[in-house]
Amino acid sequence: MHRLALNENPLPPLPTVTNAIARASREANRYPEFFPRRLEQAIAAWQRVPGSCVVAGPGSVGVAQHAVQALVRPGGTLAYGWRNFDAYPLLAEMTGVRALPVPLLPGGHQDLDRLAEAAADADAVILCNPHNPTGRLVPAHELKNFVSAVPTRTTVLLDEAYIEFVQPPERPETTQWIHEFPHLIVLRTFSKAYGLAGLRVGYGIACEDLARRLRTRQLPYAIGPVAAAAVEAALGCASELEERVRLVAGERERTARGLAEQGWQVLPSHANFLWLDEPERTGELARLLERAGIQGRVLPGEGVRLTIGDRADNDAVLAALSAGGRAA
Ligand SMILES: Cc1ncc(COP(=O)(O)O)c(C=O)c1O
Repeated sequence: MHRLALNENPLPPLPTVTNAIARASREANRYPEFFPRRLEQAIAAWQRVPGSCVVAGPGSVGVAQHAVQALVRPGGTLAYGWRNFDAYPLLAEMTGVRALPVPLLPGGHQDLDRLAEAAADADAVILCNPHNPTGRLVPAHELKNFVSAVPTRTTVLLDEAYIEFVQPPERPETTQWIHEFPHLIVLRTFSKAYGLAGLRVGYGIACEDLARRLRTRQLPYAIGPVAAAAVEAALGCASELEERVRLVAGERERTARGLAEQGWQVLPSHANFLWLDEPERTGELARLLERAGIQGRVLPGEGVRLTIGDRADNDAVLAALSAGGRAA
């Protein structure tokens, strides 16, 4: 099977990271730190923000849950664009919060004007950038206007799970914005570009006051010693990991070009996946992918999201879909 449904990194962890994992696993009989303060300090130094501004948790989904629990009153409202990452409605449901989905604009853009309006009456708003599943990017200046337009009584959760796949200079440097916006939480993860999805570490960056409120929901011992050691080792390999990100971005462009030449509608992506904007052909796409042993994310009547895998995975996609594109 070609596993292209969950936006995972196709490459296994670097040897430095697997060695750190092996070493740490020998201490698996021991508890980790009660709260992951050492790891938070390391992430903060790497991100050039104060240590008191970083809150780590079990995946960025875990940190998002802490944020909603800490900042949205029971029965309050959480706004987000929809379609989006599947976890957002689940988060609302789990925390007893009312979801306020705002439809996407044609072409897969999040509707920033309507989201800002919705945010004015909501307790929190989530913006996903780059957006899952379309791969669209809100550029830095529009993003800043959006955060400025949201009243400071509403928390802005900026989900940047895929931000490392945005190639500079287009990559917004949002972590420094916490000094300007007291209601902003930037959510990041080690699951995607850093290839550690199975170890479950994410983090939020926010001003000191907001970070302190998030910490009230942190679960003791939630990040195990193996996961913490892997992340600390990965932070020391930033340049090798950036090189891997460039490889994935290169494969993304090659695959997107190939699919477009075959006649498929592919949106320009800034993440590690492609969105085939083919609402009327999702059944046909599902059949072509299944026949070739490719797992993708098919949203019937909307489109298909395919993770960028290794070269062989992406070649398999190009071969499987060559039979169906309009140019064929
Ligand atoms: C937009 C978005 N945010 C967060 C996540 C999950 O991140 P984590 O593994 O850190 O919980 C995903 C995973 O698919 C995602 O698409």
